Amino acid sequence: MLKVNHLFKSYKTGNTVYEVLKDVSFEVKEGEFVAVMGPSGSGKTTLLNCISCFIPKDEGEILLKDRDISRLSEKQLARVRNERLGFVFQDFMLLDGLTVFENVCIPKVIKEAPYEEMEKKAQSLLALFGIDAISDKYPAEISGGQKQRTAVARALMNDPFLILADEPTGNLDSKSSEAVIGAFVSASKTLKATTFMVTHDTFSASYCDRVLVMKDGKVFQELRRTGERREFLGQLLEVLAAMNGGEEK
Ligand SMILES: Nc1ncnc2c1ncn2[C@@H]1O[C@H](COP(=O)(O)OP(=O)(O)O)[C@@H](O)[C@H]1O
Ligand SMILES: [Mg+2]
Repeated sequence: MLKVNHLFKSYKTGNTVYEVLKDVSFEVKEGEFVAVMGPSGSGKTTLLNCISCFIPKDEGEILLKDRDISRLSEKQLARVRNERLGFVFQDFMLLDGLTVFENVCIPKVIKEAPYEEMEKKAQSLLALFGIDAISDKYPAEISGGQKQRTAVARALMNDPFLILADEPTGNLDSKSSEAVIGAFVSASKTLKATTFMVTHDTFSASYCDRVLVMKDGKVFQELRRTGERREFLGQLLEVLAAMNGGEEK
């Protein structure tokens, strides 16, 4: 679904060149739930922004369903972002003046889909994530976990090829985080969604099928879950503790 081959990205400020991604390669298969972990500043957000073409890459290849989207026009790219990609951010990015239901509908409104199609899809996603009872509430009236589940539902509205999530549980307490990760897991199990998630949170990452650990601009290690989640959590904690002498909080 997603292939990243030999990706390089640096930022230039004045005369200094700061290399962030130095030969990053990996693949996310259809239906997989993959997490990226790594210290703050290791280039995780940069990687997501290169994948969605919000920033240009320096070198390398990024293929979404075997297609290089960096060559598209802005107009075509806007369409790919609305219909083929789903985004979930740390700070939810909901529109305050719209209800939960209306927020979830945005990607289909942009696509100019018929109302019945929009309503049916929104209702099924809200029910799947256990937030159908709050569909007429405004973001200010609901919890952080409910806001983020709304954002996950919105990201899935157009059945995207890939969901990109940047620290989706970064602003949430552990109970809300669990509910949000539960939404990603349901999306993966029930809808066969493909998700690529950046996270600091080992607990959240332990629900994934695979975890990429970034260090010094590269994929330092890749762990695949083969058994129980708890066992995988222990394995992740060990790897992170070994790296740089401890997990970052
Ligand atoms: N627009 C930018 N210009 C210059 N440096 C940047 C820019 N964006 C990020 N950086 C730097 O690149 C490094 C990686 O940033 P980022 O991808 O946000 O890391 P992460 O998400 O892993 O914390 C950081 O050192 C950051 O300061
Ligand atoms: Mg980041």
